[in-house]
Amino acid sequence: MNLLAFAASHRPVSLNHRLLKVALEHWKDVHSAWDIIQPEFSHFDLPLFNDAVRETEGMPAHADALRKEFLNAHALLIATPEYNWSIPASLKNVVDWMSCYRPVPLHNKPVFLLSATPSERGGMLGLAHVKTTFEGLGAMVYPTMYGLGKASMRLGDNTITDGEHLKRLHAQLDGFAGFASAIQSLQR
Ligand SMILES: Cc1cc2nc3c(=O)[nH]c(=O)nc-3n(C[C@H](O)[C@H](O)[C@H](O)COP(=O)(O)O)c2cc1C
Repeated sequence: MNLLAFAASHRPVSLNHRLLKVALEHWKDVHSAWDIIQPEFSHFDLPLFNDAVRETEGMPAHADALRKEFLNAHALLIATPEYNWSIPASLKNVVDWMSCYRPVPLHNKPVFLLSATPSERGGMLGLAHVKTTFEGLGAMVYPTMYGLGKASMRLGDNTITDGEHLKRLHAQLDGFAGFASAIQSLQR
């Protein structure tokens, strides 16, 4: 099974890239039957969604390629920043383009959402918006999302220095792996 994993940040030194790395280290150790596909976020760059342009010019070629990649994935892991208590516009842009395909490529796709922020809240307000919009596409977002507040302090080299937070991340990832596998076996 394929796990498509990415951090929705273009910053080279990104807290969410670092959090994703910690999550994937655990995933590789414990859920090794999965193949991990890990593109840079720039791979998802698309022109700003414009429905009039879509109607006259059709879908951008790269959107077609992304559609295939989403269809090819059996589950998604997305680490995303919170921007102004909400979803980053660059991630919403991907959602808006993908929502124009039929069938919608994210339909029935299990998704695990994570967020790392320098502030205490761990991006939970942003994650709630990301969850809603992915669910609007028919994705099956794992109900327990992972937010790491004060991430600049808690993220060390390839790990979360706070043991309780690390334990919680591992438990949530394991729960999600079971959830995603169960959905896949129902869809076979
Ligand atoms: C436009 C913008 C809006 C932001 N809004 C929030 C916010 O609502 N909540 C928050 O905790 N941090 C907010 N931040 C700070 C980000 O959490 C911080 O820049 C974080 O490091 C971004 O994630 P990254 O390191 O993965 O790029 C915002 C940053 C920017 C640039």
